[in-house]
This record gives sequence, structure tokens and C-alpha cells, in this order.
Amino acid sequence: MTVHRPRAHLQPRRGWTNDPVGPVYWRGRYHLFHQANPEGGYWHRPHWGHFVSDDLVTWEELPLALSPGTDGPDMDGCYSGCVVVDGEMARAYYTAASGPLGPDQQQVTCVATSTDPDLVTWHKRAEPVTLPPGGLDLLGFRDPFVWHDGNRWLQLVGSGIAGVGGALFLYASPDLDRWDYVGPALVGDRDAIDPLWTGSMWECPALLRLGDGDVLLLSVHDGDKTHHPVLLEGRFDGTRFAPHGGVRMDLGPDFYAPCVLIDPDDRHVCWGWSWEAVGDVAQRDAGWAGVLTLPRLLTRRSERIGTEPLPELVGLRGPRRRLTAVPTDDGWRADGADGDTLEVAATFPPEPGPVGLRVRSSPDRVEHTTILYDRDAARLTLDRDRASRNPDALGGVHGGDLRLAPDEPLELRVYVDRSVVEVFANGQVALTARIYPTRSDSTGVEVVTAGPTMTEDVAVWDLRPALAGGRGHGRAGG
Ligand code: FRU
Repeated sequence: MTVHRPRAHLQPRRGWTNDPVGPVYWRGRYHLFHQANPEGGYWHRPHWGHFVSDDLVTWEELPLALSPGTDGPDMDGCYSGCVVVDGEMARAYYTAASGPLGPDQQQVTCVATSTDPDLVTWHKRAEPVTLPPGGLDLLGFRDPFVWHDGNRWLQLVGSGIAGVGGALFLYASPDLDRWDYVGPALVGDRDAIDPLWTGSMWECPALLRLGDGDVLLLSVHDGDKTHHPVLLEGRFDGTRFAPHGGVRMDLGPDFYAPCVLIDPDDRHVCWGWSWEAVGDVAQRDAGWAGVLTLPRLLTRRSERIGTEPLPELVGLRGPRRRLTAVPTDDGWRADGADGDTLEVAATFPPEPGPVGLRVRSSPDRVEHTTILYDRDAARLTLDRDRASRNPDALGGVHGGDLRLAPDEPLELRVYVDRSVVEVFANGQVALTARIYPTRSDSTGVEVVTAGPTMTEDVAVWDLRPALAGGRGHGRAGG
């Protein structure tokens, strides 16, 4: 797995990571926490890991911020939550878990506070702040999201009601200390969210104000499986959320549990968790698993929710490669682009027929991953069926809708970071997938074109590491 370890993406130096949580701008710096198991590459008794940055691009790892107690409500984990700032104090609301994993595990909301300029030291309050509402058969109660709403504070907690659907419970507080239960803000399947499927339980909720509309972000869980995040558009009236549509937040198979920072410029900056798409044994053996995705912006332009790379990510660019176009059977190979840690930016003129990029491609194409846009079908896909010869690595063709105007070029920004591929298209959609090429020469970049035009404008850069003093970078393979 060492050769698959990402470098331009954030990951703790040791162990497991899942959800990014609690992004916050505090005393001039950005802090980002995450679910962590420092013991190894497997999920177990989550802690809050901690990164800090001046620019959202290069990060430093700080000591664990929250750890489960030896007894008490969080003895089996400090699960996901959020951080809010009130005056001189930061407060981390998190789910405290105790008891064996499963629907009977006790999950309650706890709070820890900090006035530390570096947010390294936190003080836990002993008493939980919110408990699940009584009289319901719940599948969980977790991932508090707290925000300021006029003259009060509100808190949403993710849940699911057995046999009914996902649920979000709302609480209100005048002072962030005393919380009262308001009621369910939304219940899946009962408050029809056509045409989206939203599973049996909702994790990691966030209520956002995007443009002039309300958007509810939640991660869909079903049975004991994590699926994907969705963005529901609608209206929140202070008590309930009325949805009138929604979209998947990422078209790929490996993006989950995102969280959002409202930065000082009022931008919505978002990170997700990209899990491994290879067997558990490989993860345990490696001693690490899971990665945080690159920061992306959530936007709403012309009434449409969009996703695009954070503009500051150009700061991750290293040297720009000099490319030579060599014709192939279905386009051209970008000679000089070989690498496993790259950004590829490509613009395709609006012509009929599928176009796109092949990355991590071996010279004989035994291994390759293909990103294709089919303008007629208005579909963007990533095909990883031949990404790897490792039978343990997951395959499949993944994707979804991308509608472009007839005269609109296709603009792809693709980040290849060893086992991570993050694709962004036209400021509209993102697609995240993990791949595990086995060959050291699976490093080629090819342009797939509809005709032999070579009019595509392609630029390739090396990517720098995300962790300061990090695990090194540069040209690999080739
Ligand atoms: C989402 C999630 C959250 C939970 C955390 C535990 O991936 O299941 O609901 O708080 O992970 O690590």
C-alpha cells in the first residue's frame, strides 16, 4: 500500500481516518479535525485528529484534539460533530458513544470547550447536552450540527427511525448550554424527497444557506452500509425543512461524510472522506487507511448547485510538465506527463462523441482508468474496471449527469494522487474514486478524443504534498 499512499491529500501520519469534522477559522488559522484511530488502519474507538493551516492548502498535523474517556458517555468513541465559535470560546459538539457497536449503542451529544490559541487543549463537560427523543425506535443518534439562527442556537442531529427512514432531530438553545428538543426537522420517506433515494439513516447533517436558498447536506446510510452524501434543496422555516429536490454531491463511489467551513469570505469550503476501495487486510497491513479529499467549493450559480476545486489549490502545483502529443488509436498520449501525483487540466471543444482522459495508464493499457464525457448522453463517467490487476481492488463504471450548453467546452480538472482520483467538471460536478494500479509504469496520461483533432488544451503539473515537511513528492514512476 505504500505506493498508493496519497501525498497531496490530507491524512494523519499514522492510522485510520474517516470523516473530516469541525472545520473552523480560529485566531487567523484554519483548523480541520477528523475521525481517527491512531492505533492502525482500521476503524476503532474514534478520536478527533487535528490539522491546522494558514492557507487551506498546506497543513500541519497537531496532537489529537479529543480522545475517548476511560469511562463515561464517550468511552467507546468521540464520533463526528462540529465546532462553533462563541466570543472567546470554541466549542466542539460531538457524539459520545458507549456500548457495543449497533443500534443499541448509546449515542448522545457532548461538548468540549477550548480557549487555546492553537485549539490543542480541550475541556470536556461531563454531562451530555442532547439526548435522543423518547418513544421512537431509532437506528442511531449522531453527528450534531450547531449553528446560530437569529437570537438562538440550533442543533440538528442525524438519525433514522426503524421502518420509516432517515431523520433529523432539531434542538434549540439560548446560550449553547441549555438545549430543548424542538422536534423532527425532516423524516425521510415520510416527507417525500423525490426522486432521491435516502436510505434508512442520515449521518453528518449540515444546514447551509447557498445563494438565497436553504440546502441540507446529509450522508446516506442504509442497513449497516455507508452510501453517499446528498444535497437537498428546500426551505427551512425555523422548525422544519421542506425539500423540493436534490442532487448527489459527488458522482463517484468513494466520497462520504463531507463537512463545510463557511470561511471569512463567506465561501462554502468542503472536505469529504475518501475510504479505501481495496480489502480490509491490505489496510490493516498498511497501518493506514482513509484520506480527506481536497477542499472544494460549493456554489450556487443560476439556481444550480455546483462544485469546483478551491481556487487556492493552484498553490499545490509544482513544476508544469512539457508535453508532446503522440497520436494513439483513440486520441493522443501526453508524452512528458507521466506521474502518479499530478493535476491535469484539459479543455475539450464542443464536438459530438465521447471525450476525456486516461490516467495511471500503463504503456500497453493493461492498467488504466478512463474519465469520459458523453455529450449526447450528458453523462460523465469514470471507469476503473481495468485500473488495477489486483483482484481485491474494486472496479466498476461510476458517474452521473453533467449537462453542458451546446457551445460549452468540457473543462476537466483531474487530480491524480497515487490511489486518489478527484475529477471536477465545468464548475458543476465532482467525482471521487480510488484506484490501486500494481505496475510501476501505470503512470501515463492519454487524451481520448472524438476525432484526430488534437485541439484539446491540456496542462499537467506535479502536485506538492499537503502536509508540511510531508511524505515527499515529485515525479514518480515513469
Ligand atoms: C460517518 C460516521 C458518523 C460517525 C462516525 C464514526 O462515517 O459513521 O456517523 O459519527 O462515522 O466514526
